Amino acid sequence: MFTFLTIVVLGISAGLAQDANRPIVETTGGQVQGITASCGLFCSYFQFNGIPYAEPPVGDLRFRNPVPHGGWTGVRNASNHGENCPSLSVFSEYSGDEDCLFINVYTQNIIGSLPVMVWIHGGAFIAGSGGSRVYGPDFLVQENVVVVSFNYRLGILGYFSTGDSHAQGNWGMKDCVEALRWVRDNIAAFGGNPNDVTIFGESAGGAAVHYLVLSPMATGLFHRAIAQSGTALVPWGFQYNVAELSRNIADIFGYPHDSEELTRRLRSTPIANFIDLQRMPSDIPIPRGFKPFEFVPSAEPADSPEPTFLTQRPIEILRAGTFNHVPIIIGYNSIESLFMVREHFIDSTVWNEFTRNPQFFVPHYWNIPVGSEATGAVSQAFRDHYWQDQALTPDIMVEWCQFHSEQQFIYPIDKTVALTAKANTQPTYYYQFSFDGDLNLLKGLLRLSDYPGAAHADELPYLWSITNAPTSPVLPGNHALTVRQRMVRLWTNFAIRGNPTPNSDTDLQNINWAPVSGDDLAYLDIGHDLVTGSRPNHERLDVWKDLEERYANNPFYYPYQ
Ligand SMILES: *[C@@H]1O[C@H](CO)[C@@H](O)[C@H](O)[C@H]1NC(C)=O
Repeated sequence: MFTFLTIVVLGISAGLAQDANRPIVETTGGQVQGITASCGLFCSYFQFNGIPYAEPPVGDLRFRNPVPHGGWTGVRNASNHGENCPSLSVFSEYSGDEDCLFINVYTQNIIGSLPVMVWIHGGAFIAGSGGSRVYGPDFLVQENVVVVSFNYRLGILGYFSTGDSHAQGNWGMKDCVEALRWVRDNIAAFGGNPNDVTIFGESAGGAAVHYLVLSPMATGLFHRAIAQSGTALVPWGFQYNVAELSRNIADIFGYPHDSEELTRRLRSTPIANFIDLQRMPSDIPIPRGFKPFEFVPSAEPADSPEPTFLTQRPIEILRAGTFNHVPIIIGYNSIESLFMVREHFIDSTVWNEFTRNPQFFVPHYWNIPVGSEATGAVSQAFRDHYWQDQALTPDIMVEWCQFHSEQQFIYPIDKTVALTAKANTQPTYYYQFSFDGDLNLLKGLLRLSDYPGAAHADELPYLWSITNAPTSPVLPGNHALTVRQRMVRLWTNFAIRGNPTPNSDTDLQNINWAPVSGDDLAYLDIGHDLVTGSRPNHERLDVWKDLEERYANNPFYYPYQ
């Protein structure tokens, strides 16, 4: 019987091994067998999905640094993506599985040494996954790069910290590092060059890319970086109050405050119970949409027991210039926060709060005393600048969204560019995506086409084939397809040569996207056309700069210097 089974198994393996559509690749963990996927007419590529890159972070491995995967015997079927990491759905349910640390490789050729692009998905550090139904690599793989995506721990499982040696935090960021180590050790077997790795990501994924640029733990694991609509300086991207947050968590669950005991109890708490975290109190009395996220990267204690990802605040590393100097592209969309445009219909109390209490216009992270003269001055300056001090009515919704965009994205990203370029010994490229067309993702999903500009996540379909979002078909001749070709070419040029517009390139309107040098922030506007300029949106951003310099008192936030 045993012999019979062995023969059958060997026979199947041998049969599959001969299948050119299902190649088998040898990895450090064992063999994986991919599938062939379509990228359009006469276009195909291989997908190797759901390869475990770390041990399942379960049981005693919850709230610990990822452990490289121990491997498997036989041929692992890499047809399907692995489970998503647990995340809270809009229906207040947890979906996904804690055994979620999987990586996916997409390549047209497993023989060769092509540049590699590793994607870090977004989702506010609490949601999302690297799967190809959201992030289909159809356009990228056709440009002679190997594309990689992966899952990393989210929410409390990704970022719980006691601020001391018992739970040092940044688990999700360390998953990213572990995934990059897997790429270093394995990508050659898939036709990729481990010495030519570009990391790129959007929103929380953009912030994660920037965190990897800041982290000594990630040094040498990548060679270029692209941060889209998120950096470590955004007010929603860094948790500086982990001790207080961990006490709040203890109170919600009725667990002791003692970090060791709290961590022990949380290690054995079923993930379904983490729904209770929705009752999280906020010590910052600011309206919905302006509150920072709880479970995001933080600074680990320098004497942490396990290797650290980050021990300083992002702003300190940026100002000291002690980050990983690599060619980098950083940018944002022109009206990121357009998703807030119906806020007063959805929750009318938000606008009432602002009307009653204009100090809500003062960025909380500037730490200006409530009720002070400075608070009044900052609030008035913003209201004057953005909507000429009109009352908050639907007439000024767009201007309010622009203010929100600056608060949450554009101002801190602009500052990141300035500080990065100052110290970076490699080129720093700056862009604004402003194209308003038929592929814009969020505007399509939320039916925002009446409003001009590009909202958060709108650029994603210009890089990825997104098949799980209900978008209207775009017909040949639509300018959105041209913009997509340009964007894909800029990004892959950068991944291949470290320069998005190398001189030899003539099919991108012959533009030269120059890196930032000095204070005159050169940038590329990716709109209907590609247009170069300097100091994007400076009329608005100068107002922010000036107010921050004059009034901010914060140990956590610094002016441009
Ligand atoms: C691999 O998984 C896919 C999807 O579940 C399945 O259709 C296929 O038969 C599996 N192949 C092998 C060799 O097990």
